[in-house]
Amino acid sequence: MSELSVRLRPVAEDDLVMFRRFATEPGLIGLDWTGFRDAQAPARRFAADGYLGTQDSRLLVEVEPDEVAAGFVSWALRDFGGPTKHWEIGIALLPEWRGRGIGWRAQAMLCDYLFRHTPFQRIQAGTHPENIAEQKSLVKAGFHLEGVVRACEFRDGRWCDGYLYSRLRDDPGPA
Ligand SMILES: CC(C)(COP(=O)(O)OP(=O)(O)OC[C@H]1O[C@@H](n2cnc3c(N)ncnc32)[C@H](O)[C@@H]1OP(=O)(O)O)[C@@H](O)C(=O)NCCC(=O)NCCS
Repeated sequence: MSELSVRLRPVAEDDLVMFRRFATEPGLIGLDWTGFRDAQAPARRFAADGYLGTQDSRLLVEVEPDEVAAGFVSWALRDFGGPTKHWEIGIALLPEWRGRGIGWRAQAMLCDYLFRHTPFQRIQAGTHPENIAEQKSLVKAGFHLEGVVRACEFRDGRWCDGYLYSRLRDDPGPA
């Protein structure tokens, strides 16, 4: 299969259909499914700031040359209780676009974008012990495993551990 070309772009009104699907189709988003979400929330958020805010944001993951919307990446400000902030990123691709080399590229591109346009030192990402695709994607995008965060989320009827990864500004990115 030939290598797909990926780009990140601002969210457009047509993308809200996909966001509503992730909010209302059980399991479409993968292991991050935690029950139904407000289907009108994407339209409200888009009207407010186009999903580009100071605290959290999204960009669309688009596959060229046909400019097909494959999913989205997100980032949000986090801290460990003090004044210092860092970014936490996330990603969700539609099932038909998974396993084709888009996920790790999109997350590497998002790191480049955040390190270029914001002064933060640390970008972190959490994932699930059973999410091998995301674990491999993060490592390919230049992230390092920091450890296991025990019982950090209630999901699918039980408390689950998470894996925490980070990429620092000075860490080498993918070749
Ligand atoms: C997780 C996700 C972003 C990964 O992106 P992707 O485009 O599917 O993954 P890539 O094609 O970039 O693959 C990256 C690596 O993972 C491997 N991989 C991909 N899918 C895999 C799978 N289902 N099982 C095991 N390994 C997998 C690839 O082989 C590649 O490793 P390699 O270079 O050593 O061969 C994507 O699958 C997705 O959106 N899943 C649903 C939402 C989700 O889980 N988001 C993350 C929540 S923490």
